[in-house]
Amino acid sequence: MRELIDQLVNSSELTSNEYAYLLEHLDNENQEYLRQKAAEKAKQYYGKAVYVRGLIEFTNYCKNDCYYCGIRKSNHNAIRYHLTKEEILNCCAEGYQLGFRTFVLQGGEDVSYQDLDIVSIIEAIKEKYFDCALTLSIGEKSYDSYLKYYKAGADRYLLRHETANSKHYNNLHPDSLSAENRKRCLYDLKEIGYQVGCGFMVGSPHQTTENIVEDLMFIKELSPQMVGIGPFISHKDTPFREFANGSVDMTLNLIAIIRLMLPNILIPATTALGTLDHKGREKGILAGANVLMPNLSPTDVRKKYMLYDNKICTGDEAAQCRQCLQRRIEAIGYQIVEDRGDCKPLK
Ligand code: 5AD
Ligand code: FES
Repeated sequence: MRELIDQLVNSSELTSNEYAYLLEHLDNENQEYLRQKAAEKAKQYYGKAVYVRGLIEFTNYCKNDCYYCGIRKSNHNAIRYHLTKEEILNCCAEGYQLGFRTFVLQGGEDVSYQDLDIVSIIEAIKEKYFDCALTLSIGEKSYDSYLKYYKAGADRYLLRHETANSKHYNNLHPDSLSAENRKRCLYDLKEIGYQVGCGFMVGSPHQTTENIVEDLMFIKELSPQMVGIGPFISHKDTPFREFANGSVDMTLNLIAIIRLMLPNILIPATTALGTLDHKGREKGILAGANVLMPNLSPTDVRKKYMLYDNKICTGDEAAQCRQCLQRRIEAIGYQIVEDRGDCKPLK
């Protein structure tokens, strides 16, 4: 096991069988070793800096019906909202003051925003905050739409692939969605020139070790600038209400493995990780993550953007979260930096 981990550290690559073995046979001692090696690798690129992104959850309307997600269209208990351009700009203003230099516009696939609306929001943000990076996370669109957003000034795009295996994909989504189209979107985004983020949930229903290995292989092939993973957390108003949550330890081990596979990329310690474990985000940083994405959404809408149950920080002001994170990150010997936080080139 030690040799396998060292091999991953030195060559950034293992075979499928080796990944499967690693995932299934890690004991506590080797798990510590793996995470420590991953944190060292992150340090070679980013030192003890942690990047922050201000997350603006601007709409919870969604035309899709993913079986795991609390804002799926069939959840009639969800109270729907969307923010106006002015409200979004107010979030950015507050975020800028708090030191954020990246804004992430995330939302469900809300058909009430046409491309022109999205473009006008992007232009307004980039005009005022030209020193900031703008990330979109608004789902599957056509090549043409992605190109329009890019030309309007969007720099990055987050679209978790969710699972690279099409059978497993069909276990998580209705027929209207496919793994193939998801991957098409990611390759389109890359071709256009976006910095791209993919990712998946750890412990999602019906996920096998083989599925995770396929995810790792897909990630290596896509070679994105960012990979976001977090544990699956069940939501009471979804078809997956009875399924167990994903494992925090498995998530941390995967963060470490992905760090060692793609040493220079951006890896967030996710809110889902912080939801299942009080110290989850800190543990994520100590396992090789280097990004945090605190919420900048207005406090009155936060409880409505419930992708999963018991999400943290839904009662807090943006400034409170910013300070809370500062304390937490300094307590583990790291520092939040005021920076766009672009991906560094591979050494
Ligand atoms: N548990 C954990 N993560 C979830 N997401 C959606 N629903 C859940 C859930 N129940 C993740 C998906 C999506 C991202 C925005 O949030 O991976 O891509
Ligand atoms: Fe939101 Fe700690 S990060 S309260």
